Amino acid sequence: MEKFYCREEELRKLNARYENEEFECLIIYGRRRVGKTALINKFCADKPTIFFSALNTTGKENLKALSKAIMSYEKPDAVVAPEFKSYDDASAQTPELAREQTLVFVLDAYPYLA
Ligand SMILES: Nc1ncnc2c1ncn2[C@@H]1O[C@H](COP(=O)(O)OP(=O)(O)OP(=O)(O)O)[C@@H](O)[C@H]1O
Ligand SMILES: [Mg+2]
Repeated sequence: MEKFYCREEELRKLNARYENEEFECLIIYGRRRVGKTALINKFCADKPTIFFSALNTTGKENLKALSKAIMSYEKPDAVVAPEFKSYDDASAQTPELAREQTLVFVLDAYPYLA
C-alpha cells in the first residue's frame, strides 16, 4: 500500500463526525491533487462505505455507475444489479441502508455530476 502522510487532524475530525449517531453531511473541497480522494479512502478503509466517484459523462451513465456502487454494497454477490430509475430513487435507498448500520456514502468528483 502507498504511504499516507499527515492528515491526522482531518481524520480525527472525520471520525468524530462518524461516531456521532446523527446524520452528517460533510463537504471536502480544495485544489486539484491536494489529497481529497486519498483522505476519503483512508477514512473509509475500515468502515461500511458506498463509494461513488462521478464520471465525466452523461447523467444517464452516471446514474448507471451510481446504481452499481449502491448495489455492490447492498448485494455484493449479485451478478446482475438493477439500475435505479432516477437519482431520487437512488438517493432514497441510501438512508434505508443506513438504518441497518452506520454507513458512509461518498460522492467523489462531484463537479462531473453537477
Ligand atoms: N496524505 C497523503 N500522503 C501521501 N500521498 C498522498 C496523500 N494525499 C494524497 N496523496 C497522493 O497525491 C496524489 C493526489 O491525491 P488525490 O488524488 O487524493 O487528490 P485529489 O484532491 O482527490 O485530486 P482531484 O481534485 O484531482 O480529484 C495521489 O497520487 C495521492 O496518492
Ligand atoms: Mg479526487
